[in-house]
Amino acid sequence: MKTINKVLLGLAVVGSLTVAVAADGAQLYKSCGACHGKTGEKKALGKSAVIKGWEATKTIEALNGYKAGTYGGAMKGLMKGQVKALDDAQIEALAKYIETQK
Ligand code: HEC
Repeated sequence: MKTINKVLLGLAVVGSLTVAVAADGAQLYKSCGACHGKTGEKKALGKSAVIKGWEATKTIEALNGYKAGTYGGAMKGLMKGQVKALDDAQIEALAKYIETQK
């Protein structure tokens, strides 16, 4: 019985963490949607790739690259402004959110 309770508690904790991360990413993404589209379906300002459904690792690499100034095209300065205040956890939450967009 004790073991079952522990397992159930474990599942409850994992479940709430997943929800917290997803909610956070959705919240953060609100400031991106104006250019990238509600689900990332647009080419931002006609310049970016369509980021909808990008694998999280790819988005993390791109966003960290914009932060460091090592990634991007003609408008990378604009994206640097979007991501410079984000920490690793926020970038990860955004990347996971974008990955779930279908
Ligand atoms: C003001 C419009 C605007 C906003 C807001 C914006 N972006 Fe962008 N984004 C762009 C443009 C333009 C590019 C292409 C930049 C370049 O030249 O590399 C881009 C590129 C990207 C790329 C790489 C795509 C590629 O073509 O390689 C990712 C990923 C991305 N943005 C994610 C985000 C996220 C996440 C947010 C919110 C935190 C965000 N953007 C907010 C305009 C915007």
